Amino acid sequence: MLYISNQTGNFEKSPSRLEGLFVFRCSLHFHKSEFHTETDVLVLGSGSAGLFFALSTAEQTGLRVLIVTKKERSESNTNYAQGGIASVIAEGDTLESHVQDTLIAGAGLCHEDAVRVLVQEGPQRIQDLVTIGARFTRTKSGSLDLGREGGHSTNRIVHARDYTGRELERALLHAVQEHPRITILENHFAVELLTDHQRKAGAGWDGRGSRAERLSCYGAYILDEATGKVTICRAHSAVMLATGGVGQAYLHTTNPVIATGDGIAMAYRAGAKIGNMEFIQFHPTSLYAPEAHSFLISEAVRGAGGILLNQAGERFMTRYDPARKELAPRDIVARAIDAELKRRGDAYVYLDVSHLNGSAIRDEFPSIYERCKELGIDITKEPIPVVPAAHYSCGGVAASLDGTTNIDRLYVAGESSMTGVHGANRLASNSLLESLVWAKRAAEHLSNRLRHEKAKPVKITLKEWDESGTENAEEWIYISHDHTEVQQLMWDYVGIVRSNYRLERALRRMKLIRKEIEDYYRKTKVTVPLLELRNIAEVALLIVRSALRRKESRGLHYTTDYPKTDDRHWRHDTIIGQ
Ligand code: FAD
Ligand code: SIN
Repeated sequence: MLYISNQTGNFEKSPSRLEGLFVFRCSLHFHKSEFHTETDVLVLGSGSAGLFFALSTAEQTGLRVLIVTKKERSESNTNYAQGGIASVIAEGDTLESHVQDTLIAGAGLCHEDAVRVLVQEGPQRIQDLVTIGARFTRTKSGSLDLGREGGHSTNRIVHARDYTGRELERALLHAVQEHPRITILENHFAVELLTDHQRKAGAGWDGRGSRAERLSCYGAYILDEATGKVTICRAHSAVMLATGGVGQAYLHTTNPVIATGDGIAMAYRAGAKIGNMEFIQFHPTSLYAPEAHSFLISEAVRGAGGILLNQAGERFMTRYDPARKELAPRDIVARAIDAELKRRGDAYVYLDVSHLNGSAIRDEFPSIYERCKELGIDITKEPIPVVPAAHYSCGGVAASLDGTTNIDRLYVAGESSMTGVHGANRLASNSLLESLVWAKRAAEHLSNRLRHEKAKPVKITLKEWDESGTENAEEWIYISHDHTEVQQLMWDYVGIVRSNYRLERALRRMKLIRKEIEDYYRKTKVTVPLLELRNIAEVALLIVRSALRRKESRGLHYTTDYPKTDDRHWRHDTIIGQ
């Protein structure tokens, strides 16, 4: 068992802000309202991966779990998921068919063992959700209603009409909130992971470590957004990184503002291996409404019979993928739209469902219908203007089949991870499934590990957050300017179609911007906008560097300098980091 103390060796040294500080191991009395700086298991993020891991861990290990999340608890990519969760449930569907669909979409880069784990354990995870009270759409006979999305050879998408993510968050949060051993801390921002790099010298540690040594993770520095103070949050047994995706690195994205790649950036700085960041998925159909925040038009709309038209009214997918048309995998549809926009000089194409039954559309897609109506579009009567937008990161922190990373005691699950499931292009609705399957496997791994752990107690002393020499940020314009510049750069040069020239230009500029941000960061007291900007710049660089390494086109990475897939040299992951 590992014991961690602060540098004085006194667990309850209490700066005024930590009044009421509570140490799990030292008290039998536990109140959810108390402030925590120590826990058994620290979970960063309250989306599907973080919440399901917290639940599974609390159940399987009996340990206490603290979930730290940077905004209000439901704010996450998960909350906005529409289409649903892919799983083999229908009579006549087979595990092998889901495996093959996933492998085909992944364009030769999926790890087949990971795909088989995903598909085999999927139905049980759906059952778990039903057990905790998730209310999915059902047919008249009471069985789960299964939708269809691109790349799937049959109907296998479990969904709650077109607000699956909201229902998933509701059910998971309800279960978590009811659980006596789980606490959620909102509006607290994980700044950095605590590893041996932040250990103080002593107890067999020279304070430096060597690159050859395997690092361990002991918790994280956490910013309390209300007070602006950063403190250590120690995790006695494990840290789960479940901080989601990177969509905000791009100007146009379907992701909410939380998706700033914090976890991937933190893990990279801590020494984790990061894989396949070049594979950014652009969703083909984000609502084109320049005056409004971007809004997804689910792929399930095409699954229900929606067709894509250019502004001349031509159904162009018949030219790009005659067999699968609108239901080709996303990389193909997004590139086809991009090509069509460039060919005609248009700003958007149309997704049309006006030929389908209007009341069925309203019933199946109530959120989409309402949102479009607010913007003056009646989707049962007129086509919806759509454009591609950055949607999902197939890459992330390299993870084993159990969610372990190359840093001991650090687990990862969900969109922050690279498990090998998605390869070069994620199959629709496989990501919520992946987050659930890996969250569960990581909890099982942790539980087994603790059962067999015989390590001698180690006393670790960690360095307190040091903000000496920093001042309050005054030049906010600087932050917002850099933020927009990164997003614009990534959109223009590292988008759906890439080239060496564009990527090299992006690399030069991103390095410069990152350096400016680092200089500013070193002399400024941290705030959420500054930390997010720093992380966005970090992940943007990871994306550019990964894209430059891959000298071929495959899945979501398409470059005009190497337009062909080169299986001989490039059928492997792109790994950056130690
Ligand atoms: P998230 O759900 O994004 O959760 C991340 C959490 O981490 C959030 O709580 C966030 O606030 C917190 N966080 C982030 N940084 C920090 C920090 N520094 N400190 C503390 N907390 C932090 N996938 C499907 O399979 N099916 C779908 O139908 C589908 N539809 C989608 C629709 C939309 C509009 C979007 C954007 C995505 C969709 N996806 C879908 C993708 C899927 O929703 C995500 O990949 C998945 O929800 C990721 O879950 P997660 O738990 O890894 O991350
Ligand atoms: C959608 O509903 O189109 C999103 C599905 C996904 O991202 O998997």
